[in-house]
Amino acid sequence: MVAPFLLLFLFGSLSLLDLVSAQGPNYTFPKSGFASTTYYSLGLDTIAACGCKPLSTHYPTAALSRSAYGSPASYGPACGLCFNITLLNTFLSNPPFYPEVKPWVVLKITDSCPTGSDWCGATSTKGNSAGHYINFDLAQPSIPASFYPSNATLYGYTDFGIWNASYSVVNCEYWAGFNQSDALGEVLNSGGCCPADPLVNGSCPIYVSPSSAPPLARVSSLFAFVALSFGSFLRFAS
Ligand SMILES: *[C@@H]1O[C@H](CO)[C@@H](O)[C@H](O)[C@H]1NC(C)=O
Ligand SMILES: *[C@@H]1O[C@H](CO)[C@@H](O)[C@H](O)[C@H]1NC(C)=O
Ligand SMILES: *[C@@H]1O[C@H](CO)[C@@H](O)[C@H](O)[C@H]1NC(C)=O
Ligand SMILES: *[C@@H]1O[C@H](CO)[C@@H](O)[C@H](O)[C@H]1NC(C)=O
Repeated sequence: MVAPFLLLFLFGSLSLLDLVSAQGPNYTFPKSGFASTTYYSLGLDTIAACGCKPLSTHYPTAALSRSAYGSPASYGPACGLCFNITLLNTFLSNPPFYPEVKPWVVLKITDSCPTGSDWCGATSTKGNSAGHYINFDLAQPSIPASFYPSNATLYGYTDFGIWNASYSVVNCEYWAGFNQSDALGEVLNSGGCCPADPLVNGSCPIYVSPSSAPPLARVSSLFAFVALSFGSFLRFAS
């Protein structure tokens, strides 16, 4: 038990945050930058992909575009992460709308936005239509329609749908639900993963689907894999 502390002492320049991030996954996005935002409907008390507790839906939450989320299904490395989002401008309206007051909100990632839509379909090498690698799909009503600025006189409508935003990863202590213990963490035994603050508590692993194949089938597919590898090795060598 002494060794780890001795190590910490010897490498005294390592801060706690360095250790935490060194243990965590490599996120595919920078800690701050620009992103697009969309919105979707997530009913109050719904348990979304991360498996966060139902009360979390009563505070600002969002789904993150799939590649940035980090897992193909269920929970992922971004689950529970908190971001400060500031709406900057619309870019699909004519003319683009630059509100004088730019609203911001600290939100928590509780869900994954599927790759089916262009906005959430960015990969780590190919951006979406706005050129962004990250999209926040803001959950309504946790972030209500009244959050979005508008100018009905000029546009004749109030809902712009998509916004250009700036974002930065922040500690979840700035999230409005952080003082509610029933809004933090995952539903027990749900197979979810939703850290109170991944920057402090460590982040979720990449979800790996448990094989639905019976053990025998798995053994035989292992044999098939070995046989195939051996075959390709022979082909490669000759
Ligand atoms: C969020 O970002 C805005 C600037 O865009 C800043 O004014 C505000 O203080 C930030 N809030 C937090 C909690 O970081
Ligand atoms: C988003 O805002 C940034 C900063 O103002 C700007 O450089 C970028 O072009 C904007 N992107 C879109 C799609 O409006
Ligand atoms: C709406 O747009 C008009 C015309 O550009 C402008 O005069 C007015 O100040 C704007 N109002 C708001 C709330 O942005
Ligand atoms: C949580 O509670 C502390 C102490 O009462 C308070 O200072 C802080 O602002 C609260 N945080 C949020 C996000 O409401």
